[in-house]
Amino acid sequence: MTENIVWHHHNVTHENRCQQKKQKPCVLWFTGLSGSGKSTVANAVEALLFKNGNHSYLLDGDNARHGLNKDLSFSEQDRVENIRRIGEVTKLFTDSGLIVLSAFISPFKTDRQQVRGLHDAGGFIEVFVDTPLEVCEQRDPKGLYKKARAGDIKNFTGLDSPYEAPQQPEIHLKTDEHSVDALAEQVLAYLRHEGFIS
Ligand code: ADX
Repeated sequence: MTENIVWHHHNVTHENRCQQKKQKPCVLWFTGLSGSGKSTVANAVEALLFKNGNHSYLLDGDNARHGLNKDLSFSEQDRVENIRRIGEVTKLFTDSGLIVLSAFISPFKTDRQQVRGLHDAGGFIEVFVDTPLEVCEQRDPKGLYKKARAGDIKNFTGLDSPYEAPQQPEIHLKTDEHSVDALAEQVLAYLRHEGFIS
């Protein structure tokens, strides 16, 4: 499908953009069950990055499904497409020099692997927001577990749709053991240690 399309090279390079922003771009790929705290922690991380003078952008599953991905359902096939599109968006945004945070359930290991493959080595940082299903269900911030248990929502992750937990995430966050602030600091410490930010 790309046989008659030629790739354009731009005058402003990736290196120019990184130098201007004084940071090394990467994607912080938050994955976890619905209600695990992905968006909450990603928000807290982004606030710290902003305070530190970094340039970032947060992509959120619920928001993306109102726009770019509003044609997609929660079938397995559509979840794969959801993550494929967002993966490509993260590639564009990191190319622009930004630190990208993405908060999607992204339940399938192979999809996350594919996004990893789009990025430079080390530039894809898998952040496992590890919250037990019981805790997510108890929190139920949007009342969706209740609806799913009542049979009003089908293919709900963790109930009648699978979640494949990361085996070796770069960052492992335990939300039932630490505060949001402490978890956000854990992520910032990783970024500093790996030289993405100063
Ligand atoms: S993903 O599986 O395709 O990565 P995504 O992160 O975009 O999911 O969207 C998940 C959000 O959609 C959940 O946080 C929840 O608010 C809502 N949602 C609605 N229906 C479902 C469902 N069947 N399974 C999981 N989440 C759902």
